[in-house]
Amino acid sequence: MSQSADDSVQRTRQRPAQRTALRELISEIEHRMADPTAKGLALAVSRAVREQALQPGDRLPPIREVARELALSPTTVSSAWGLLARAGTLRTKGRRGTVVADLGAPRDGRYRQALEHQAELSLDLSTGVPDEALLPGLGRALAAVTTAGTPRSYLDDPVLPELAEVLVDSWPYPPPAIAVVDGAMDALDLVIRTSLRFGDRVVVEHPSFPPLLDLLEAAGVQVVGVPLDDEGMVPDALTGALDTAAQAVFLQPRAHNPTGVSMTPSRAGALARIIGATDAIVVEDDSAYGIASTADVSLGTSLSGQTVHVRSFSKSYGPDLRLAALSGPEDLVGEVRRLRQLGQGWSSRLLQRVLHHLLTDAQSRAEVVAARAEYARRRKVLVDALAARGVIAGGRDGINVWVPVADQATALVRLASRGIGVAPGGPFAVLADGHDHVRVTVGLVERDLETVADEIATAALASGWGARGR
Ligand SMILES: Cc1ncc(COP(=O)(O)O)c(C=O)c1O
Repeated sequence: MSQSADDSVQRTRQRPAQRTALRELISEIEHRMADPTAKGLALAVSRAVREQALQPGDRLPPIREVARELALSPTTVSSAWGLLARAGTLRTKGRRGTVVADLGAPRDGRYRQALEHQAELSLDLSTGVPDEALLPGLGRALAAVTTAGTPRSYLDDPVLPELAEVLVDSWPYPPPAIAVVDGAMDALDLVIRTSLRFGDRVVVEHPSFPPLLDLLEAAGVQVVGVPLDDEGMVPDALTGALDTAAQAVFLQPRAHNPTGVSMTPSRAGALARIIGATDAIVVEDDSAYGIASTADVSLGTSLSGQTVHVRSFSKSYGPDLRLAALSGPEDLVGEVRRLRQLGQGWSSRLLQRVLHHLLTDAQSRAEVVAARAEYARRRKVLVDALAARGVIAGGRDGINVWVPVADQATALVRLASRGIGVAPGGPFAVLADGHDHVRVTVGLVERDLETVADEIATAALASGWGARGR
């Protein structure tokens, strides 16, 4: 059926009361619109909300309907909704559509839910951060950086040339273009803001990293979860998810947070073949660079024109360096640079020089290699000890273990009562399951791993109401 025939069937299907409500809502927006652009439409909706013509919770019609009624293109309406979602005026509610946000309501997001706990804990393994004692010393790097330096212009190349050289030489594939940004979260935010529009469809791993899910929700995109197995994202499930066009597929190639899964090279090849047959971009978040025991792996080796690869230095060199590098197609990286020029401009070259020193200094490199071995030891001891107690946790790399539990709430309370904090699985879940796990940042536990395993296994096996009387 042609689009216009389709539209007219839809219109006749609407009941008269619905049609009147739609017309009223559109006219509230229309008479506040100064110009027929995305910005004009976004401003008109904002005014309608401020003047209470639109109320928190009001549902907006689908983008196509708004576009048709206002004689705009769907792209213009989608861009306007994107601006409004970023400003917090609109929220997407999955199948329930787009609603006017309640600005008074708390917006905690998954990130906070994953990390928040009430009790004072003697051993907080909920955080996902590296062990400070395993970060390389900064003394020599700081001593080597004696001046702050001044760029010739605020439009200078934002990447320190000697750092760019080290990055290109160590990148898993020849990168078309590179940028240095303020951490992997900054990289993901910039890629989402430059490459995705409100209403776009994106594929993520299930489970996934809560702050990424929060960013995608704030951008107003539809998130489709695809499960993982021991080798990475499941190819058949990805094929199914891509039956309907998606704009991006987000992956963590190594030491997946929370599961610890590292993608195998053959799985990377299979996923590249599936995604290569579509127009979607791949966004890889290699957050465990330096401390991952498995080899660097990227779909960029066969799909460099479609791949954004993000490398964070937080786990290996320290989260407070706030540095990550990203590679991608020239036009995408160019957009990222232009967007940054309006904000922070660039990531401090002083910090880039510190990072360059750390990446090239033999002693710092040896310290990171030692940290990698120590994280692998801690993870293995805990996973083996849990298995010996009947709790089978998967994954093979990184600082986290994704522990299956009989009942999430019981496990959290039980561990908290023993002074141990872990992150609830719920905020990581994209599909229905996932609430039956907790994430344990075992990378923070240097000794007494057997005792910690005892506590975790007991909590994991305790089930809800039945367990309380025991
Ligand atoms: C998967 C993943 N992505 C991104 C980040 C944040 O990295 P950064 O400190 O570089 O922003 C983390 C930190 O835990 C992570 O686990």
